Amino acid sequence: MVIRFTLNGKSQSVDVNPSMPLLWVLRDTLNMTGTKFGCGMALCGCCTVHINGEAMRSCVMPISAVGGKKVTTIEGLSADHGHPVQQAWIEMDVPQCGYCQSGQIMSAAGLLAKEPNPTDDDIDDAMQNICRCGTYQNIRKAIHRAAELQAAAPAPGAGGNTEASPSASGTVTGGAE
Ligand code: FES
Ligand code: FES
Repeated sequence: MVIRFTLNGKSQSVDVNPSMPLLWVLRDTLNMTGTKFGCGMALCGCCTVHINGEAMRSCVMPISAVGGKKVTTIEGLSADHGHPVQQAWIEMDVPQCGYCQSGQIMSAAGLLAKEPNPTDDDIDDAMQNICRCGTYQNIRKAIHRAAELQAAAPAPGAGGNTEASPSASGTVTGGAE
């Protein structure tokens, strides 16, 4: 069955089983490996993408449910890792192993789109993603920093390039497989 949707601002069509999860389509059909597989049960948040601007778990989202919708992955969050969340992640060197981080970033970006100045409680409520490396405290600090950056330059992706270590850069852009 052919499903059409918008992926990172471009029209996309795939001919797959309509029950195939969006995560499988992204990684296995479209070879976009920035979005990660963790639990496959909507528990860990590794697979978080935006669907019509909402942060959602792609591992339990059948591709048929995204027909006609706008999907944004870590690869499309910004053209130059200039989104305030990516800038803050790099500045504060949040990632450790990096595996969970694309999901963390997409969840944080979804939160800031709805709540530009979140409290610690807002962050704790929104960030249900699991990190086996325990980067939670740095994530919270980075979200507050991202809120400051967003307030200073509200257009997502409009910021300039940032000095980044290769490991941080790879995990904030989806470059790591
Ligand atoms: S892989 Fe989707 S929530 Fe864990
Ligand atoms: S940085 Fe290693 S799992 Fe989160």
